[in-house]
Amino acid sequence: MIRILFVCLGNICRSPTAEGVFRHRAIEAGLRDSYIGDIFIDSAGTGAYHIGEKPDRRSRSAAASQGIDLESLRARKLTLQDFSDFDYILAMDRENMKNMKNLCPARHHKKLHLFMDFAQNCPGITEVPDPYQEDQEAFERVFNIIDRAAIGFLDHIKQNISSQNA
Ligand code: 4NP
Repeated sequence: MIRILFVCLGNICRSPTAEGVFRHRAIEAGLRDSYIGDIFIDSAGTGAYHIGEKPDRRSRSAAASQGIDLESLRARKLTLQDFSDFDYILAMDRENMKNMKNLCPARHHKKLHLFMDFAQNCPGITEVPDPYQEDQEAFERVFNIIDRAAIGFLDHIKQNISSQNA
């Protein structure tokens, strides 16, 4: 099993969207998502402002229009335990990456990645921009950026799983 954690600041816009989109793409590709499946997927925020909240209404709306349901997700804060529990910890932007690096024990640093490093067909976009102060259109753009990265990351994970099974 590969355990994957998506991280942003509030855990109400970008990382829950990434969690929902990646789960959708992975299931579509035939992977099993659960404690007993091929992958386990979660998300968290480096900040504590929105703990317990649903994803932002604008993220839920952008995802719902593409057939992805984020209603059951609730925001939580990144913990020290997460660095032991997960295999891939994916930051939405460089600020999240910096905050994660500051918290993460050195032996787990190789688990930390910038999500957009896996994106395909997204030239020049190296971070998932924070849409919180923006309008609905920005949330739709962020959804599409996340989907590009999710497709690329899924390719990476599929290769990883087939090499494990070889
Ligand atoms: P996220 O967006 O990090 O993508 O969840 C934000 C959500 C809330 C805040 C900032 C960014 N905030 O400042 O409350």
